Amino acid sequence: MESSVAPADTINKLRAAADAACAMQAGMELDLFTPLKDGPMTAGEIARAIGVKSDRLRLLLWALVAAGLLTEREGRFANTDEAKQYLVKGQPSYMGYLHATLANAWTVRLKTAASLRTGVPQDKLDFSNSPSSELEKFLRRINTKNIATTRSLLARHDFSTIKTLADVGCGGAGLAMTIAQTFSQLQVTAIDLAEITPITRKIVKEEGLAGRVEVVSADVVSGPLPGSYDAAILRGLIQVLSAKDARAAIKNIGAALKPGGRVFIIGYVLDNSRVSPSVAVGYNLNFINNFDAGEAYTESEHREWLSEAGFVDIERASYTLAGEMSLITARKPA
Ligand SMILES: C[S@@+](CC[C@H](N)C(=O)[O-])C[C@H]1O[C@@H](n2cnc3c(N)ncnc32)[C@H](O)[C@@H]1O
Repeated sequence: MESSVAPADTINKLRAAADAACAMQAGMELDLFTPLKDGPMTAGEIARAIGVKSDRLRLLLWALVAAGLLTEREGRFANTDEAKQYLVKGQPSYMGYLHATLANAWTVRLKTAASLRTGVPQDKLDFSNSPSSELEKFLRRINTKNIATTRSLLARHDFSTIKTLADVGCGGAGLAMTIAQTFSQLQVTAIDLAEITPITRKIVKEEGLAGRVEVVSADVVSGPLPGSYDAAILRGLIQVLSAKDARAAIKNIGAALKPGGRVFIIGYVLDNSRVSPSVAVGYNLNFINNFDAGEAYTESEHREWLSEAGFVDIERASYTLAGEMSLITARKPA
């Protein structure tokens, strides 16, 4: 008799994917792909290169072979082509730095059921009220990713003719500082809430860029922004706001741009289907745990808010920045 019980293929596949992802994260954190850049090594040689015990490392190496990031032949492990390109330190396409944000994102995601059951985000991030030390830790952590996204933006867009630029919701100002360092002609203003700007100033000063990046306190939701700019860049801002506040923020940013000025919205943007790209779908799990209202909004929602604010030439880039974040650009009519 034929069994009518369907195989648990999806469940097993997902479980295996989570295991493989954990192996990848550990491999990135230990930076074990970098010593393999010069060719295959035994478990003992890799262990010595990264300063760990080889008998336990062996188990992780095999898990990475199963995950498709290493190969093994006659007791020697080697990077796959993908690991060679993305996980070896020093490569321009290096992604191994993601280990810290991945670990943090997954720890937060494991609280999703509790956040929904209690109705209270279990890893709440309130930019106006969370303890300053917590916010500083968060902003310093995401600054690494912020800088990578900015480099990726600069590789695609020419900012050499722009004179005044606002980094709105700047956080640790990774974006503002990277752009200021790249273009000496640019006057860069980093804008954030009054609760955040002391942290921003501290980071900007540490980097020796206090003379190049002006840090200004303003709430982009509640009113007009100080100043007038050729371009505004918002990285990770829209997704931390409610839909109502996101709409108001885009309107206020539009008002602060000069005629012909451009806005660059960088963040997790959902396709209109709401089931892709996977990184935005995944971050919505974080947002359940972080915010009462923020989320990755759809492309249509962004387009609607931008049109309403009077923007034209609204485009969503076909590529992602640093392999992760979407980019939507638009122009204020001249
Ligand atoms: C996820 S963080 C992104 C920080 C930075 N842009 C980056 O990508 O690293 C969101 C930032 O938006 C800021 N923000 C939230 N609401 C804001 C508001 N109403 N006005 C100005 N900034 C705001 C937060 O304080 C925080 O620094």
